[in-house]
Parts: sequence; structure tokens; C-alpha cells
Amino acid sequence: MSVLDVQGVRKDFGEQQVLRGVDLSLERHEVVVLIGASGSGKSTLLRTINLIERVDDGRILLGGDDITDPSVDPDAVRARIGVVFQHFNLFPHLRVIDNVTLAARKVHGVAKGVARERGMELLETLGLGAKAREFPDRLSGGQQQRVAIVRAVMTDPELLLLDEITSALDPQLVGEVLDLVRVLKDRGSTMLMATHEMAFAREVADRVVFMQGGRIVEQGTPAQVFDAPQHPETVRFLERER
Ligand SMILES: Nc1ncnc2c1ncn2[C@@H]1O[C@H](COP(=O)(O)OP(=O)(O)OP(=O)(O)O)[C@@H](O)[C@H]1O
Ligand SMILES: [Mg+2]
Repeated sequence: MSVLDVQGVRKDFGEQQVLRGVDLSLERHEVVVLIGASGSGKSTLLRTINLIERVDDGRILLGGDDITDPSVDPDAVRARIGVVFQHFNLFPHLRVIDNVTLAARKVHGVAKGVARERGMELLETLGLGAKAREFPDRLSGGQQQRVAIVRAVMTDPELLLLDEITSALDPQLVGEVLDLVRVLKDRGSTMLMATHEMAFAREVADRVVFMQGGRIVEQGTPAQVFDAPQHPETVRFLERER
């Protein structure tokens, strides 16, 4: 069974058709990278999967469950998905370890001691052990974003959604965040990620998906999409990105 199955999803904002029939599946452990011009619908697609936006047509299955069914509790769905956005959104009044363990404790009901143990172990494994007792404003942007990623994987989500997680960072901080994404890939996370970092997409993606005007125009392995794009729109986009 697919981890994620997006079927014929449409989303309008007023007159504007932002998603115009998107079909996309992710298998377990697969890393899929969304590329495409600004406004092509990448973030909107991620937001429909996390039920921040309701689809106007089509449906989305998570682990076989139709999460777009109106009877579904959005919080129960979000508890199964890890999300990291462009802006780190850590709680400024909570230390790193408490930021990392909060959802595990409050949403998943994990006991405090158990959550702290798991949180510390993850922070240490992922190179942030020394920062556990710090407040977020004592961390660099790259470190804050890495903490946000650790927080997102604390409860072993079925799916990770990453939206432009490096685009608010100074260039010298981008590498450490991308390194962490590589580690998660090696650990077997299933990820759907939107990025403008083409070199990174090429390196980390199992599959690259090119979106244009709310549709998937082309998809394939990084070699297929970057080295031998089939669609003129893909060629034009990649030329602009070069
Ligand atoms: N809440 C909203 N209300 C109205 N229009 C919206 C809303 N969210 C997105 N849009 C519009 O939908 C279109 C797609 O936006 P989206 O953010 O999905 O693009 P994107 O591919 O993520 O772009 P970028 O690369 O700049 O992040 C844009 O034209 C945007 O203005
Ligand atoms: Mg976006």
C-alpha cells in the first residue's frame, strides 16, 4: 500500500485554479521532490495533504485512509504527518528539548520521561545534543531549522512534508540542514519536499516531480528530469534555474 495517494486533487482560490487535477503516490521510504516555478502550486499541494487547505475535488489517502473525507478529524491526520516549513516556528519560551517533545507529550500522550529520553537520543544522534537546554534564540537559523526537523520526526510520522526548509536561511547555513535531510533519508523516512535547491533535489530525490500551473507536467528520476527533460516547460524552467 502507498504511504500517500493523491487522486485528482483540485483546489481553487476564488477564480484561480491553483491545483488542476494532481495525481501523486509515494511508496514507503520514497523521497519525492517537488520543483516548479513560484506559484505553480507546490505549497498548496503540501497544505492540502496536511489538511490546512480543503480540496475542492479529488481525494487524498494516507496509508490507505481517505483523509479528505469530511468526517475525518484533521488533528488525528496531522498527528500522523511530520511537517517543516520555511520559517522554523519554534516556541521561543521553550528550551530545545521541550520544543522537541511537546507534541509527543500533548498530542500523542507519550509520558514525559519517555519523551525526553527519545528527544535527547534524537538530538544527540542528529548533532544537536549540546543544544538541548538552550532557548531557540540562542541558536543559529540552521540549528533552529534542524530542531524543527527533529521535532517533526519525534513521533515517527508515516510521512514528512518539507516546504522550502532552507529558503529563509543564509547560504552558509543551508548545508547543515540539507545534511540532516540526507540522514533522514538514510534512516528510511518517507518524504515529500518542495525545494528550489536543484542540486540538492538531484542528489536526494528518488523521484523529481515538476509542477507548472497546478499540474504535474513531468516526473521521473533526477537523471531523467534534469538531464533529459521531455516537456518544453520543464526545459524552460531548468534553463531559468541554471
Ligand atoms: N490562501 C490563499 N489564498 C489565495 N491564493 C492563494 C492562497 N495560497 C496560495 N494562493 C495562490 O496559489 C498559487 C500557488 O501558490 P503556492 O504557494 O502553492 O505556489 P508555490 O509553488 O509553493 O510557489 P513558491 O515556489 O513561491 O513557494 C499562487 O498564485 C498563490 O498566490
Ligand atoms: Mg511554496
